[in-house]
Amino acid sequence: MKTFNYKNQELLCDGVPVAQLAQQYGTPLYVYSEQALTDAYHHYSKSFKQTNPLICYAVKANGNLSILKHFAALGSGFDIVSGGELERVLAANGKAQKTIFSGVGKTHEEIAFALEQNILCFNVESINELDRIQQVALQKGIKAPISLRINPDVDAQTHPYISTGLKENKFGIAYKDALNAYLYAQTLSQLNIIGIDCHIGSQLLQVEPLIEAFNRLILLIDKLSEHGIHLHHIDMGGGLGIPYHHQETKPDIEKYAQAIESTITHKNLQLILEPGRSLVGNAGILLTQIEFIKKTEDKNFIIVDAAMNDLMRPSLYQAFHEIIPVIDNKEVPPITADIVGPICESGDFLGKDRTLSVQEQDYLAIKSAGAYASSMASNYNTRPKAAEVLITKNNQARLIRKRETLFQLLENEQTCL
Ligand code: LLP
Repeated sequence: MKTFNYKNQELLCDGVPVAQLAQQYGTPLYVYSEQALTDAYHHYSKSFKQTNPLICYAVKANGNLSILKHFAALGSGFDIVSGGELERVLAANGKAQKTIFSGVGKTHEEIAFALEQNILCFNVESINELDRIQQVALQKGIKAPISLRINPDVDAQTHPYISTGLKENKFGIAYKDALNAYLYAQTLSQLNIIGIDCHIGSQLLQVEPLIEAFNRLILLIDKLSEHGIHLHHIDMGGGLGIPYHHQETKPDIEKYAQAIESTITHKNLQLILEPGRSLVGNAGILLTQIEFIKKTEDKNFIIVDAAMNDLMRPSLYQAFHEIIPVIDNKEVPPITADIVGPICESGDFLGKDRTLSVQEQDYLAIKSAGAYASSMASNYNTRPKAAEVLITKNNQARLIRKRETLFQLLENEQTCL
């Protein structure tokens, strides 16, 4: 069954009418389906059945503790990019031994914390970082497991802000410098070299760039073994996209698996994947209520109570999210309008030129809001962060994040004058 569907013109999430959730918990409200999270996770494990990869869910996509706990229970590891995300993983009963630490700017404190927790691996992004990990590991008397993030210089054919595998991006070690970086890492006493890693970008709808990156990493792995460096794992990062528009199609995970699995088995490597969006993106919606329908000479605006602070993607990447009414009432005459929030910025829009049969006070559902929505939310315009609800597998609604209060927002500030 589809996660979100209409029954008697009412939008349901796993059988639960979402209008009821909006009334009970207020709006804006993120609603997620536990079943959809499970299905997306199993889609990976089923597609990659030969290699039994370690799936390390990218916490940045949606770090809610209940979501992390659910993935941990399915056997998932985690990809983190800060000490804060490691705290989240631990708080959700995730295993440090299945956690990898990515990111270009790890601090001394974060490295020390991750070493103490005995994480699986640091994905190292520069020579300077190798030196820093060596220094902290020496102080602690611990060996640090490391993998080098190599920038394969492959065009991921995605939005420039979320493309990471090109020469001009800040991420990873340049392909041409990779061998020397490994040889250097080998000279550092506290480092235990265990892998190689890449992440070429996000929202990839084609798998070919990933396969190309994989083939480039395999060439490097062969070259490294000629130099006596034998790796235990290959980490291909995340990046597989989701359809945001009903005309888009999912990337072909099976094709990706088929293209790379036999080489991995042959070389006796452990495969690691770091999916984020593809595990949570289409498992969630953002519910919002229409405050006003404002008609001007040039344009109509549907002003809702959610805004760019709840869902930054349209403003930041001109991203498209489908927006649908919670009650599908075709008797209301349709209106074409921009769906905008109350924030004082012209860039505060959630959708442009949408045609909807709606009236003031109606609820709307903004689709594909499971990934990079709540995790990128801010308090701009002193707007408290929205609540989050999870529909469990037995169709129960559970509040998994309370709505932030204005008191909490002001709590850390002092009036010193
Ligand atoms: N691994 C690393 C090292 C990453 O940097 C990322 C995402 C992932 C894994 C997960 O990628 P995914 O499977 O989700 O594509 N805020 C943007 C997306 C930024 C992605 C950043 N890195 C958006 O809303 O589209």
